[in-house]
This record gives sequence, C-alpha cells and structure tokens, in this order.
Amino acid sequence: MCGIVGYIGNKQALPILIGGLRRLEYRGYDSAGVAIIKIQDTDSKIQMIESVKAVGKIDMLADKVKDKKLDGTVGIAHTRWATHGGVIEQNAHPHFGCDGKLVIVHNGIIENYRELKEKMKDHKFVSETDTEVLAHLIESHYDGDLKLAVETALSHVRGTYGLVVMHADHPEELIAARLGSPLVIGMGENEHYIASDATPMLAYTKKVMFLEDGEIAEIKKDGVKIYNLKDELITKHIEEIEWNDEQAQKQGYENFMLKEIHDQPTVFEDAIRGRVNLEEGTAHLGGLNMTDDEMRSIERIVLIACGTASYAAMVGKYAFERLAGIPTEVDYASEFRYRDPIITDKTLVFAISQSGETADTLAAVREAKRKGAFVRGIVNVVGSTIARETDGGTYIHAGPELAVASTKAYTNMVAIMILYAIQFGRLKRVTLATGQRLITALLEIPEKMNKVLEQNDKIKDLAQKYKDCKDMMFLGRGINYPVALEGSLKLKEISYIHAEAYPGGEMKHGPIALLSPEFPTFAIMVKDQLYEKMRSNIEEVKARKSPIILLATEGDNCAKELAEDVIYVPDTMELLEPLLNTLPLQLFAYHTAVMLGRDVDRPRNLAKSVTVE
Ligand code: M6R
Repeated sequence: MCGIVGYIGNKQALPILIGGLRRLEYRGYDSAGVAIIKIQDTDSKIQMIESVKAVGKIDMLADKVKDKKLDGTVGIAHTRWATHGGVIEQNAHPHFGCDGKLVIVHNGIIENYRELKEKMKDHKFVSETDTEVLAHLIESHYDGDLKLAVETALSHVRGTYGLVVMHADHPEELIAARLGSPLVIGMGENEHYIASDATPMLAYTKKVMFLEDGEIAEIKKDGVKIYNLKDELITKHIEEIEWNDEQAQKQGYENFMLKEIHDQPTVFEDAIRGRVNLEEGTAHLGGLNMTDDEMRSIERIVLIACGTASYAAMVGKYAFERLAGIPTEVDYASEFRYRDPIITDKTLVFAISQSGETADTLAAVREAKRKGAFVRGIVNVVGSTIARETDGGTYIHAGPELAVASTKAYTNMVAIMILYAIQFGRLKRVTLATGQRLITALLEIPEKMNKVLEQNDKIKDLAQKYKDCKDMMFLGRGINYPVALEGSLKLKEISYIHAEAYPGGEMKHGPIALLSPEFPTFAIMVKDQLYEKMRSNIEEVKARKSPIILLATEGDNCAKELAEDVIYVPDTMELLEPLLNTLPLQLFAYHTAVMLGRDVDRPRNLAKSVTVE
C-alpha cells in the first residue's frame, strides 16, 4: 500500500506535496519521491521535470529537497511500500519514461509488466518496478495527447492501479486513472489536489470527488473533467468531508484494528492476484526459487512462526498435508531454535512473519539455514530482515498493519500457504479438477468475507452481552482448531479477558471441568467432515450450562437448537474455512475490547514487532 499526492494551482507545490506525504506515511514508508514541473526558460516556455527520491521516512526526502530549488506549481509525489523490487532509490516513485518528460506515480500491481517490458526492447529501464514499465508504455503511446496516451496504455494493462501522470509539455494538466486503488480529487479555488485518500488535502479543502474504477480524470488548475470507461464525459457529485486528519487516515473507522479487519476482502485479492491460474487449476508463486524437481524432492515441511503467524501456520499444515501429501510440522520459532531440530536437505522451512523482524523467527531462520534446509519466507514487510535472509519466498501483500493485534496479515498468510499447497499439490497428487475447484472457491472468498463483515452489528450485540465475563472457551476441530486459537488470542490481547482454546474432542480430557454458567464457550461448528463430531462436543458443553455462541454455516437449521446465539458464515471448501471463520472472532474480540474501554490499537504490554528474545 503506497500513497500518492498531486497538486496543480498557483501555490508552490513542494510544501503541499511533502506535507501530504507526511499525512500518508501511515500507509507505508520505505521510500518516497517527488517530481515538479519547472519553468526553465520563461521566454521560450521550456519546461522540464525535476525529481528527488530518498530511501526511508519522509523526513529523509524532506532533508534532501531542502538544498534543491524545486520551484513550481504543478507536481506529484509518492510514498512507497515496496511490492516489486527492493527498497532502493531507483525503485522509488516517481518513475520516468526514456525522454525525462513523462513521469508517473502509481499504487497497485501491474500483473503483466514482464510481458509489456519484453515488448519495449528499445526502452531503457532503470528500476525493477512494474510502475516504470507503465511510464514507458504511456510514453510509447504518446503523440501529443496525454490523456489518450494514458487511456491507450491502460487498455494493454492487466492489474490494478491508482495513478497520476504528468508531462513537461503539458504543465497545465495532470491525468489520473483508477482501477482498484483509491484516488480522491480535492476541489479548491483555482487549484486542485489529488491523493490516495483525503488526508493530504484536508488542510486546504474539504470538498472532494472520489474517482471510481474505470474512470480517468483530466485535472487542470481551473477545472476537472472525468471520463468513464467509454470515454464519455460524466458529472460527478462533490462531497464534503467531515473527518479530521486522524479519522481520515483510518478512513472513517474508529481505529486501525477495525479498519484492518475491514481491509481483508481487498488485501486478500491483492495476495492472490496474478498468482492463481484457473485454467491450469494451480498457483504460481515465483519467489519460491525452486525447480519442479526440487519441489517434488521435498520430504518434510517445517513452518516456523510466532503468535498469530503460528496459528496461520497451523492452517498451512492442513493444506500442505492434504493437498501435497508432505508431512508438515509447525514449530514456535522460540522453541525450534533451541530444540536441535532434525533438518535434512529434503526439508523445506517456511518462516512466517508479518513484520519480518521477529527476533525468535529470525534466529530460527538462521538455525535452519545453518543445518542446510531450503528456507523461504512468507512475510508482509518488504525488505525486512527475514525477507532478506531467506533464499526466496513470497510477500503476502497485506499492506501496512498498524494495530498491534494482527488481523489482515493472518488472513493473507493463510492465503499464501494455501496457494503454496496447491502449487506443490498439483506437482504431486491434486487433479486438475480439484485444483480448479480450489481456485474457483478462492476467487469467491472476498465476496463471502464481505457477507461476514456485514454482520458487524450483530457481533457487536453479542460482545455487549458477553463483555463482562471473566473467562471464555474457544472450540474448533480440524482446520478450525487454529481458528479457535486465533480467536482466543485476539480476545486475550486486546480485551484482557482470560481465554482458552481447545480442539472440541479434547474437552472431555480435562478442560471441561472449567465450564459453568459463568464460563461461556465460543464454538465453531461449520458443515465440514467433522460437523457431527463437533456437534456432540457442543452437546457436552451445553450439558455443563456454559452459554454458547455458535459459528455455523448459513442454512444450518440445527444450530439454533444448540445455542441461543448463532453467527452464520457462508459455505466454502473445507480448506478455505479459516479465511471466513476467523473474521467474526476478530470482530467479537474488537467490540468486546472497545466496550471495556481498552486501547484497541495499542494494548498493554505488547509491541507490534517483537525484536527481542
Ligand atoms: O511480525 P510477526 O508476524 O513475526 O509477529 C509474530 C507475533 O509477535 C504476532 O503475531 C503477535 O502474536 C500479534 N500480537 C498477534 O496479534
């Protein structure tokens, strides 16, 4: 997730752009850059574009531009959170075409950038990014009409974008386009702003226009024209923003955790985009850096992680064993590193981490490498230490996760492990038909997640009902046991209510002694192969008079007979259930914590990235 800012008007653009980037820093900040149109020769009206980029926080860029005379009233800027290519200055935006006259800032992912690059053999590329390919593509279609060049180039592109293009020969306009990545236009008096969200412009105007997918904007000092997919000029409604700065960063949500829970359908799409192939019924995660033969030779997989990432790994274990038939273990990284683990050259180790900086996971990576395993990362933060120290792997594309309690990173870790399991499975025992069924079901997940999230109010009512309990039991079986563990961790870490999680069948071996009318149970009983078994376990709970919240599959009429409180989730393939079932548990923990007056984004005693042992 990156941030875009653009300005066209009569004021000096630089302070507006740098100030705007600071407002967007919450979206990610591994590097940043700015480009401004400079009138070089007033008489002959020659314009050129000057650009400055810096690695690190916006302060680094602000320091660097101090000594440059970046005068000009039209400019664009970008704060990057890397997806393609490392965190180096060349990969930071804005990106130019060959002649230095056309420049672009872009959010999103151009899936077919390699194919496009291949076709532009006469162009010189200086970065590893998909965005630079887009700059050259637009340049190659430019023949005096900037908007037409952008439109034509975009018709060749597969992927998502929110972009702004600027050209030295058109100092009177900025061209913006959106498909899947938000853009907001700020309406001023003889000046206009554009940004990925409204925060950079709130100090200047509260009047905004939201671009929709497929729309292209021609932004001038004195007016904005918006065109739809058919290139028809359309009239758009101007809205008045009532948010203050902080509310705008949270996009109207009360805090980052709630926003990040609701980000899940979108970031899940980001995680699987360009990585699944329905026709071949498989997934392709290029970063694995292993040949098909090496993949077939793997005899054991070890997943190392901490906290929420380890529960995502437990879901991964089911997927790898069921689809690829490879024995898979999950190890807490803090245990693995001291256990003298058995590793051979046929062992594949995945280190799973949101931050990519967790000290225990990093030490486990080093230990596994020392012992000769293939070590790969499943990481969110690009360029983080684990991403750099592993010999390949995959970014989960969850975007910056700012709330301490992990939500969207968990979902995307699960998604990536399922993709890996499909990829390995297709080389071994998964048929084309099964592969295609899995990919089809994966593509349906975002819509189903939205259906789950629509039950927010109902879950909030349940939180109200149970918020004063001192303890809570979470139960699940099979692939939903890690979901129960994650639900219990979420409740503990943000509400400080004591919670336990057990596999349903394990209850009778001890923990059932805890249950009473004061000790409620949150049970996952969805329609899968363990449904009947779970049902019996819940009967046992009911007999101990523990109040029950049940997570059940839509259309399961028996659920109401077992529990007063039922949350229904859409049906999906069993391996994908955690991608839906975890969401109500996140919302339940969230609302409970808010009602208890907890600091949800920064719970006591916790840190977002645990870089100590
Ligand atoms: O950054 P990582 O994914 O490596 O972090 C691992 C755990 O510290 C993390 O998941 C922690 O458990 C979170 N607070 C969970 O919400």
